[in-house]
Amino acid sequence: MPPTENGTAPAIEFRGVEKRFGDHTVLKGLDFTVSPGERVTLIGPSGSGKTTILRLIMTLESLTDGYIFVHGDPLTHEERGGKRVALPGKQVRANTKRIGMVFQHFNLFPNMTVIENLVEAPIHVLGLSRAEATEKARGLLAKVGLSDKETEHPSRLSGGQQQRVAIARALAMDPDILLLDEVTSALDPELVDDVLQVLRDIARETDITMLIVTHEMQFARDVSQRVMMFDGGVILEEGHPEDIFTHPTQERTRKFLSAVLD
Ligand SMILES: Nc1ncnc2c1ncn2[C@@H]1O[C@H](COP(=O)(O)OP(=O)(O)O)[C@@H](O)[C@H]1O
Ligand SMILES: [Mg+2]
Repeated sequence: MPPTENGTAPAIEFRGVEKRFGDHTVLKGLDFTVSPGERVTLIGPSGSGKTTILRLIMTLESLTDGYIFVHGDPLTHEERGGKRVALPGKQVRANTKRIGMVFQHFNLFPNMTVIENLVEAPIHVLGLSRAEATEKARGLLAKVGLSDKETEHPSRLSGGQQQRVAIARALAMDPDILLLDEVTSALDPELVDDVLQVLRDIARETDITMLIVTHEMQFARDVSQRVMMFDGGVILEEGHPEDIFTHPTQERTRKFLSAVLD
């Protein structure tokens, strides 16, 4: 666990991360770090490995080789006596408790009401009482503007409302890392702004570390300090959003951006 100059470990570190699906290598020796509180936007063409990166951090996929560290601690594997050793499931689950993810297609529990969606994990994973979890959930629903939807089922909500519930559900676990995978891509255009505004508020009011996959370039500019451009599972270039968006150094970045901005 290499501390940075100021003595704090990175919030996220990929070290030599390789991911294969069958004989298809998606990520090959990927290295990067994200500082605590930093907001990083991942861009790149479809299939470049962005979702895979987030799913690896969420431990929804297993890495083929290499290591991921979260706040300096190994997430799923550690090196012991020169060998790469898988950590026990219990430890992996403890490591992911404070990592939240919001998906493109909401992924709410359809058979539960909105409030049940929000209290489920805080009760069963964090050990909150139902009363504590409910109070917290109500505060979060107010924050995302959905206090009146507490007892609705997700199917009765618009996509934008469902996504705001999904964001509230992620926040109910007090994440210190939040992973956002194209959270507005499945929404009708008129519903996008409310969702982005909720995320802007979170970015402004908290110091949650965020990894954001989005095609909303103005949003990326507003909330992130760094943009990483992926192609074929490698970082093609990275930098401040202003620099990457206005004068990318790579032709492939230029092409990608002009396609997205059209
Ligand atoms: N579960 C899976 N099984 C097989 N191939 C997969 C799976 N998930 C992703 N891939 C492949 O990995 C590559 C990267 O996918 P992904 O991470 O979803 O890219 P992106 O999010 O940048 O569009 C793609 O070629 C995709 O087909
Ligand atoms: Mg994706």
